[in-house]
Amino acid sequence: MSINAEYHKFDVIVLGAGGAGLNAAQVASKYCKTAVISKVYPTRSHTISAQGGISAALGNEEEDHWHWHMFDTVKGSDYLADQDAAEYMTKSAPQMIIELEHLGVPFNRTPEGKIAQRPFGGHTAEFGKRPVKRACYVADRTGHAMLQTLYEKSVEQGTYFFNEFIGLELLRNEGTVNGILCWDIQNGGFHIFHAKAIIFATGGCCRIFKTNSNAHINTGDGVALALRAGVSWSDAEFIQFHPTGIFPAGNLITEAVRGEGGYLINANGERFMEKYAPTIKDLAPRDIVSRSIMLEILEGRGCGPNKDHVLLKIDHIGKDAIMEKLPAIHELALVFAAVDCTKEPIPVAPTAHYQNGGIPTNYKTYVVKGCGENPEEPIPGLFAAGECASHSVHGANRLGTNSLLDLVVFGRTAGQEAANYALNNKFVPLKDNAGEFGVKLIEKLFNSNGKYTYYDIYNQLIDTMQKNVGVFRTEESLNQALKDIEELENKMEDFKLNDKGKVYNLELLEAIELENMILLSKVLTTSALHRKESRGGHYRDDYPERDDQNYLKHSEAFLEEDGKTVKIEYRPVRLKPLTVETFPPKPRVY
Ligand code: FUM
Repeated sequence: MSINAEYHKFDVIVLGAGGAGLNAAQVASKYCKTAVISKVYPTRSHTISAQGGISAALGNEEEDHWHWHMFDTVKGSDYLADQDAAEYMTKSAPQMIIELEHLGVPFNRTPEGKIAQRPFGGHTAEFGKRPVKRACYVADRTGHAMLQTLYEKSVEQGTYFFNEFIGLELLRNEGTVNGILCWDIQNGGFHIFHAKAIIFATGGCCRIFKTNSNAHINTGDGVALALRAGVSWSDAEFIQFHPTGIFPAGNLITEAVRGEGGYLINANGERFMEKYAPTIKDLAPRDIVSRSIMLEILEGRGCGPNKDHVLLKIDHIGKDAIMEKLPAIHELALVFAAVDCTKEPIPVAPTAHYQNGGIPTNYKTYVVKGCGENPEEPIPGLFAAGECASHSVHGANRLGTNSLLDLVVFGRTAGQEAANYALNNKFVPLKDNAGEFGVKLIEKLFNSNGKYTYYDIYNQLIDTMQKNVGVFRTEESLNQALKDIEELENKMEDFKLNDKGKVYNLELLEAIELENMILLSKVLTTSALHRKESRGGHYRDDYPERDDQNYLKHSEAFLEEDGKTVKIEYRPVRLKPLTVETFPPKPRVY
């Protein structure tokens, strides 16, 4: 029997209203009836906090080529990126920037009026010889400018918006994806969105770590929904720790600070990155800089009374340059560290920043099966873009500024492909019991009257993830995390929801997010336990070397029938680019 819900019908549904979702929506809306469903008002999506820039080999400030950009992306990924997707993204980048400029993104300019560019970690000229200026930027508020622009464009294109709705269940019929069940946060009540094509653009999950740079909304809901619907999470173990989170709050201090001439020092005043990456120093990729900071701290050269952070020095570039190019950093350092960075260095330490893996797709953004005889076979009706997706251009480690590029390039492709799919396919009927799982979940939470509240469980979750699944991992620490997570699953059975109201029940929202975060933590930790090597953002103290013989492959984590047990399979990396020669794995020296 069908559930008691309000029903809607759209050709294309986009879940998530960050840069990827809005770019997909504004494109799909040109061709067919398209709606965006978002947990928050669209311009509050996490893209707004992207600071330093968006990469493209425009060559406006010095010679650059998309081949160099592609090489850096593949090498930065520790060779786990799919090279067809890396070629597609880096080759599309210059045109994408022009498109954004024409939509109205107010990029900074060079004196002669071209789009200005700045250096960023891991971006090099001539295949690694020297840093190159490749990041286009809007001061240090690049994501903010892009998100506002894309939202305005979607509204202009007639996109329908359902704001403050949370997805509860991805609906399928005979393998085809055909809808989503949602909860209306504002008014209470279920809604079923019946669609021909669904695009997931739900962002990342770094709120599962205690120290993170993410918005409160980044609880990985989309990936959790996909997992429960039988879709895999590809390369779940690869979380990116950004080297410069404000210590101890975790908020991001953009890499653009180092791009503009800032550098890291330890308690002895030493510029320690010269030791770890002699060629590009502070502009090495993030996984390398984060590990270097942690080593300085572990070896006793950290700063402050507890020797638990390092310092980021930027005052030497001058107040005028800081206020013109990094105004938000100045404000953030003042608010969260009480430091005036025009005069003093900023205390920083690595912060969980980005989910490198995600829902597996091909480079056209069709979600693929990820396992079995033909792991590249698309799941009909399902597309994904942005941080929740694994296209995979980031592999084991993403280069700074490639995320804004990823979300607009693959967002646009998802909009085109989903619209095309919707125009050529009929609605697949909803099953009679569509939405039953989501309804049961809400009923269970409303009826809960146990011992533990959200914070009892959430605080324990982020503590164990931070301590045991952080920058350095071992078999012992990962097993400890799994044991703790199992205990939290049990506590969830003894949960207490105090607020039983339907209207704007934020405790209910947090409880749904908590269910998702516990699931994701378990899947991520299990994937990390199975990968017995070190690659990119996944560093195992007990397996410190990269092992291409056994692990040059994507992990694919699934849920068994019981909806609880995690199963790990593997899928080959697509090492063949679209047109150019492949970049075979090499030692990763910077
Ligand atoms: O450092 C930053 O501005 C972050 C950029 C990114 O994650 O791409």
